Amino acid sequence: MTIPSNNILVGYDYDAWYGYSDKLPVTVDVSTKNNTQTLICGMSGSGKSYLTNQYFARICLHGGDDSVVYFADFKQDDSFLHLRECPRYYPYDRTIEALEIVYDILHKRQSGEDVSRHFVTLVWDEYIACILSLLGTEKKRAEAVMHKVSEILMLGRSLAVRLVIACQRPDASAFPTGSRLNFGIIIIVGASIESIYSMLMPKELIEQIGDREFHTGEGVMLWQGSELRLLKVPVVRNEEKMKQICIDALTR
Ligand SMILES: Nc1ncnc2c1ncn2[C@@H]1O[C@H](COP(=O)(O)OP(=O)(O)OP(=O)(O)O)[C@@H](O)[C@H]1O
Ligand SMILES: [Mg+2]
Repeated sequence: MTIPSNNILVGYDYDAWYGYSDKLPVTVDVSTKNNTQTLICGMSGSGKSYLTNQYFARICLHGGDDSVVYFADFKQDDSFLHLRECPRYYPYDRTIEALEIVYDILHKRQSGEDVSRHFVTLVWDEYIACILSLLGTEKKRAEAVMHKVSEILMLGRSLAVRLVIACQRPDASAFPTGSRLNFGIIIIVGASIESIYSMLMPKELIEQIGDREFHTGEGVMLWQGSELRLLKVPVVRNEEKMKQICIDALTR
């Protein structure tokens, strides 16, 4: 099955994978026509960072040479060891620098000063942990950061500025003014934690999941707040190639 040029693969259909050993791609149209602000959540060990790596590589490939990507890795996870030397990789205490740069681009586009519309994507692993850490020491700054995130989530689509946020539990308090509703792509991996589901999905959709028991790298995707897909995240076939795509995109 060929994937349309505006689409990227997120994983494979969970039921088809286990039901009749078939690989049915689950893809999303990531052009600016859709809201592709992305939230990836699930408990520790559920496969968020593993999925983030491959999702990021596909975003890099899709955006082409003029797209610009930034990577904020608050935890400095081993999953992203290969990115550490890249110029647009922002570890731990530099995480907020990446946000400031991307927020500035959003503002310049919004004000008309910047008329370019190539994709600008910031991937931010362990967003909530970062906010909690800031709240513990610099409350005002934490609030300013959350407001910038909210603004990007609300205004970014048509200006081609996008966030891919990964965190364990996406508490509403970390997304002020209801901006958590502005994720067009929500992926929840791993064990079905009722409290996470109910913060992100209406009851009718949660019912569609039924009694499926998801393990690491399995779960659900909510597309544009209304369509539910069940996901199996594949093992990366050529890890070196995937890593190189990400390194090149964070460097060029
Ligand atoms: N789809 C998958 N297929 C095979 N192995 C996977 C898959 N997803 C994750 N894993 C493995 O499971 C382990 C945990 O995954 P990962 O580090 O991505 O979890 P996490 O949700 O980011 O956890 P944390 O919140 O602690 O950072 C890793 O060893 C990873 O290689
Ligand atoms: Mg992780």
